[in-house]
Amino acid sequence: MKLCKRTLNFIQVINEDGAVRICGWLNDGGVIGHLAKNTLDEIYHSDAANLIREMHAKGDHSNCNVNQCPFVANNNVSDNEIEIEEVPRFPESLYLAYENVCNYHCVMCAIPGRLSKVDANVLEEKYNRIDEELRKALPYVKHVSANGLGELFASRHTLKLLSEWEPVSAPSEISVTLETNGSLFDEKHWNQISNLGQYNLSVAITVLSFEDDIYRELSGTDQPVEKLIENLRFVKSLREQGIINYLELATVYQNANYKKLPEFARRCIEEFGADYVRLRPFDPWGEVGMKEWMLDVRNVYHPNHQDFLEVMKDPMLSHPKVHDWGGGRESGLGPEPYIKTRKMYSLMESIFCDDGFMEKLDKVTDGTKVVVYGMTAVGKALASRLKNESKLCYCLDRKMDGLSYLGHPIYGINHFEDLDKDVSIVIALHWSEDVIKTMLEHAGYNGKILKITELAEDS
Ligand SMILES: C[S@@+](CC[C@H](N)C(=O)[O-])C[C@H]1O[C@@H](n2cnc3c(N)ncnc32)[C@H](O)[C@@H]1O
Ligand code: SF4
Repeated sequence: MKLCKRTLNFIQVINEDGAVRICGWLNDGGVIGHLAKNTLDEIYHSDAANLIREMHAKGDHSNCNVNQCPFVANNNVSDNEIEIEEVPRFPESLYLAYENVCNYHCVMCAIPGRLSKVDANVLEEKYNRIDEELRKALPYVKHVSANGLGELFASRHTLKLLSEWEPVSAPSEISVTLETNGSLFDEKHWNQISNLGQYNLSVAITVLSFEDDIYRELSGTDQPVEKLIENLRFVKSLREQGIINYLELATVYQNANYKKLPEFARRCIEEFGADYVRLRPFDPWGEVGMKEWMLDVRNVYHPNHQDFLEVMKDPMLSHPKVHDWGGGRESGLGPEPYIKTRKMYSLMESIFCDDGFMEKLDKVTDGTKVVVYGMTAVGKALASRLKNESKLCYCLDRKMDGLSYLGHPIYGINHFEDLDKDVSIVIALHWSEDVIKTMLEHAGYNGKILKITELAEDS
């Protein structure tokens, strides 16, 4: 079978509970298990992992987020596929991203908000448990990456695992990718993990701007940009000595920094010796309020969108080392959030106040019990109404798998096989409904799938 390489080789441990996900660019989060409960090889071969691979084997990329995945955005998934007979016991690559700690507070990033609120001793125990499982798998891994969901040089456990890593394969077969904001990448910090220099080492450093005021504002730091530039010179010297074998300099383009993208790319290549310049579009990682909406210049509704398109025509951005992960697409974020909010209120009003709503639901569901997909405010409103009418069976929401709402269990779609399917499902989101519908069908559900937007429209 042919699979996107990331369904095999992007296995990432993402938080203190040891949640493991496949790829980082799936619409539903891609979580396939937890190291707190299972070993890595059990998780790598779990039903949840197999379901994702089956979709890809059929060429179905409806669960891939086009605003995050550059393969789907650029229509070149097939260039990134691997032909494989059988999924191996361990993944070849492991992404260590479970310490969600950072010394920056970037305006567009959700990581600082994730900083654990649990007691320090409890957190330490959780990290130790993850380390224990990872130590069993790490010798068999050929590629390690750290820390895509935090700051590498602030991640004590990850640094220790990396410094002690002894792979069974020969050093010539081993590769490492380090992701960092570069703020602490000086000689002293590098020495903690300089053992990695014997392998094929790639380093990716994010720089949100080379202009001091914009850099500090976007990175949420008091550190002057000069310190980062000094570190970039140190990194360049490691690149020139062949200790670092590949240097990627990255940015996330958004309202405050898009004008200087051509100059940014030029400096990355000419001054700091970048092999690859990543221009990644801002993508909202959480709720979209007005603040997030204003960052997204790829949105056709954004007041600076036309100016952004002009900047992107600069010849410097067509340099072979410069890569626009946005693929020239618009973001699809749509009109200002208040318009979306208005839709949410109108749906909730129908659910609670329209007599016709329940009548219509009864008619189209033929009296079967109902499952609510998506525990958003609308989903919760619908679940409440259905519970009052004794029609709610259970709820589906991958991110809330294992929790409950009003005494009814919430499951991830990955558990769907074991659930009662003699039900009608209402998708309670007012976006991405068709993607969810396809996922439900792939998970083996062939009953009635209804959209809340259609149910509420003419009730
Ligand atoms: C979460 S960071 C972790 C690694 C490291 N701390 C860094 O900043 O490079 C990984 C990458 O995600 C990018 N990123 C953060 N928030 C983003 C967003 N909302 N949209 C797109 N990229 C984002 C960062 O700029 C960085 O390049
Ligand atoms: S440095 Fe990286 S992890 Fe930290 S806040 Fe910025 S983007 Fe997020």
